[in-house]
Amino acid sequence: MARRKKIYEGKAKVLYEGPEPGTFVQYFKDDATAFNAEKKEVIEGKGVLNNRLSEFFMTGLGNLGVPTHFIKRLNMREQLIRQAEIIPLEVIVRNFAAGTMAKRMGMEEGTALPRPVVEFSYKDDSLGDPLVPEEYIIAFGWASQQEMDDIVSLALRVNDWMSGVMYGVGIKLVDFKIEIGRVWDNDFQRLILADEISPDSCRLWDIETGQKLDKDVFRRDLGNLTDAYTEVAKRLGVMPSNV
Ligand code: C5P
Repeated sequence: MARRKKIYEGKAKVLYEGPEPGTFVQYFKDDATAFNAEKKEVIEGKGVLNNRLSEFFMTGLGNLGVPTHFIKRLNMREQLIRQAEIIPLEVIVRNFAAGTMAKRMGMEEGTALPRPVVEFSYKDDSLGDPLVPEEYIIAFGWASQQEMDDIVSLALRVNDWMSGVMYGVGIKLVDFKIEIGRVWDNDFQRLILADEISPDSCRLWDIETGQKLDKDVFRRDLGNLTDAYTEVAKRLGVMPSNV
């Protein structure tokens, strides 16, 4: 097979030119990074699991009417996606305090929040993805006020569905990160869910035991990351056959 033209390589994924204009092929690598890539490791099978899990979440959300970039899974590590102009923000939704919120606010991890909190980080590795207020986003022209309103409602829709699906398999959705892109449909611009949704970008805790089933296992050296992601895939009934 002819090698595809590489468009972009990130920490966990590679984008290749797609077969049709307006498409990309998204390849999931086994690389795990944390703390702005200060900690790095190759974790065998992670890419296969995340490809399958992101397909599961994006398909479910798409079926509910949430527009996503996902078109179809091509093989164990690749999926066909719509090309989108990525808004340079990490959109984070939190249901329970953890990670940087718990640290910043001096809160105990796991404290339930009175309502879901949506926050934004500016995607810039050299700055360490700083938390930014909506005021900055509008002032610097990264997104319009209307887009920000749409992003918040989209993020909350994703949160509602994801929280319910995970609860159904005994897992608490503590927080997650999504990325949003712009696409044009017949001269009409709209926002779609892009990037990936996987245990790399969520915090997932077993409801009974509190066991972490997400990338914190790698960040905090809590055990085998593939085992944690495999548990999530098994509970959701989407375990790939050859991991
Ligand atoms: O580190 P922090 O607590 O801000 O992370 C909140 C959520 O966003 C976590 O689920 C984390 O996995 C995710 N995240 C991410 N990519 C980043 C930063 C955070 O997926 N660069």
